[in-house]
Amino acid sequence: MLLRGLLSVLFAICGFTIAENTGNGTSQSVKDSPPLLLVSFDGFRADYLKQYSFPNLQKFFADGVLVDDVTNVFTTKTFPNHYSLATGLYAESHGILASHMYDPETKKEFSVANDTDPFWWNEATPIWLSVQNAGFKSAAAMWPGTDIKIQNQTATYFLKYNSHVNFEERLGNLTKWLTEDKSVRIAILYWEEPDRSGHMYGPENTTRMSKALKEVDDNIGLLMDQLNRTGLWDKINVIVTSDHGMVQCSDKKLIDLNTCLNSSVYTVVDLTPVAAIRPLNDYSSVYNKLRKCHPNMKAYLKAEMPERLHYKNNERIQPIILVADEGWTIVLDGKLPRLGDHGYDNSLASMHPFLAAHGPAFRKGYRQQSMNSVDLYPLMCKILGILEMPNNGTFNNVRCMLVNQTCTELAVVVGIVIGVLILLTTLTCLFRLMKVRDMSSSRPFARLELEEDDDDDPLLS
Ligand SMILES: *[C@@H]1O[C@H](CO)[C@@H](O)[C@H](O)[C@H]1NC(C)=O
Ligand SMILES: *[C@@H]1O[C@H](CO)[C@@H](O)[C@H](O)[C@H]1NC(C)=O
Ligand SMILES: *[C@@H]1O[C@H](CO)[C@@H](O)[C@H](O)[C@H]1NC(C)=O
Ligand SMILES: *[C@@H]1O[C@H](CO)[C@@H](O)[C@H](O)[C@H]1NC(C)=O
Ligand SMILES: *[C@@H]1O[C@H](CO)[C@@H](O)[C@H](O)[C@H]1NC(C)=O
Ligand SMILES: *[C@@H]1O[C@H](CO)[C@@H](O)[C@H](O)[C@H]1NC(C)=O
Ligand SMILES: *[C@@H]1O[C@H](CO)[C@@H](O)[C@H](O)[C@H]1NC(C)=O
Ligand SMILES: *[C@@H]1O[C@H](CO)[C@@H](O)[C@H](O)[C@H]1NC(C)=O
Ligand SMILES: [Zn+2]
Repeated sequence: MLLRGLLSVLFAICGFTIAENTGNGTSQSVKDSPPLLLVSFDGFRADYLKQYSFPNLQKFFADGVLVDDVTNVFTTKTFPNHYSLATGLYAESHGILASHMYDPETKKEFSVANDTDPFWWNEATPIWLSVQNAGFKSAAAMWPGTDIKIQNQTATYFLKYNSHVNFEERLGNLTKWLTEDKSVRIAILYWEEPDRSGHMYGPENTTRMSKALKEVDDNIGLLMDQLNRTGLWDKINVIVTSDHGMVQCSDKKLIDLNTCLNSSVYTVVDLTPVAAIRPLNDYSSVYNKLRKCHPNMKAYLKAEMPERLHYKNNERIQPIILVADEGWTIVLDGKLPRLGDHGYDNSLASMHPFLAAHGPAFRKGYRQQSMNSVDLYPLMCKILGILEMPNNGTFNNVRCMLVNQTCTELAVVVGIVIGVLILLTTLTCLFRLMKVRDMSSSRPFARLELEEDDDDDPLLS
């Protein structure tokens, strides 16, 4: 009886875990799950949260989740990171590697201003397509890639990219789609600030940045109000995050390639802070000159890129990659292009964004120090109840953010089960010992009856 009780406890725990792990793109869970809204405020450096005040954002995660620091992917640029958030893949695996790319086989060129050829995006399946492939709909407002026919499909509802459409209009369209079409399961929203101000004024211009960040916080307020007014707030799961951080640049930190190399011997596919270089013929002479070019810039042959950057295994990565140190700018004309920039090594804290979440799927008042941006994808798949595509994320890194997960409390549960087991074993031994004493005095047959009735023993059930 004791054993049976313990086993049923164990089965209950295991059954719970097993039931949670049977995600299926077409299963019941998608039909019942509330929609998910994913929002990116471009260039929201993690430590802005500590330096500036965000009354609305604070309210948002006070009864939700905050992750202080998100390790994003290299290169820490806008397009690679937005595609990583949507796919859970490193840049080398999803194929959007930089703001400017060149494909040596097809001789095609990519830039953020000319991004519409699906060729560049087809190496991965972003989450909005997985939702559609599971029979549901998606809605998108300017998130990179959502207006492109990736694997022959755009997002179900989308806005063509236009930087002049303001936050309210983007949000208005999304909430309209969410309320009018109940089969919309994922909505994704992109906003250009505080990236734009960070580039223009530099993140250390506190006057300008506090103004830009107040506007961002006002927009978060607008978002909460709008969801509240449309009756979505209590039902919807909302994730607010960003693609990368920002660091101050300076005209005292310039690396001019022309001081090292004659421009006629190579072409530049992308320039700063990570340069992609194609030598025209003599690779080793170009590499040797670039290697010694500047103490604040590293030169790598493609095959020698450090493993941790996950920036090696793709045709679109050029033969030589130059990486400037934090705050340094690679130039060809001796002039500083921007007061703030990003794109640097993704191990730098200044390149990291944050993440906050709110909704029925999330814990309330839960705070976590760190995660990887690729972990977001398996988290979203779990919330939506869809199957994950192969990815580089780890659900275990983020499972504690969710209410329905056993999480680290599993250790506590195991502790309690073991504790109870020890206690019951001790009690059983004592009990048997007492019975043996009873038996030795008299009435041997009564003892046998007792044993048969063991299941209904009041002390142990
Ligand atoms: C997922 O759902 C489909 C369609 O209902 C079904 O054929 C398939 O067996 C399911 N897969 C799993 C792993 O449950
Ligand atoms: C955009 O890129 C394609 C190649 O992918 C090229 O054919 C086209 O000319 C480019 N358009 C512009 C406006 O640069
Ligand atoms: C792409 O979609 C269109 C219509 O949505 C369809 O006619 C066409 O066959 C599809 N092409 C491929 C390659 O799937
Ligand atoms: C949707 O966006 C368009 C601009 O693309 C804007 O004119 C319109 O007002 C927006 N709709 C709502 C409901 O906000
Ligand atoms: C911030 O930017 C403004 C506008 O460019 C400029 O006038 C001001 O001097 C800058 N402040 C600092 C501290 O750099
Ligand atoms: C939603 O609206 C109600 C009623 O106006 C208000 O009491 C509540 O504070 C609002 N909640 C949020 C999160 O804005
Ligand atoms: C670069 O090389 C070209 C061709 O070899 C030569 O004409 C030019 O003077 C060189 N420029 C510099 C700055 O050395
Ligand atoms: C990332 O995931 C992809 C898809 O599963 C896989 O091909 C690739 O090897 C992974 N990268 C690393 C570094 O594990
Ligand atoms: Zn960005």
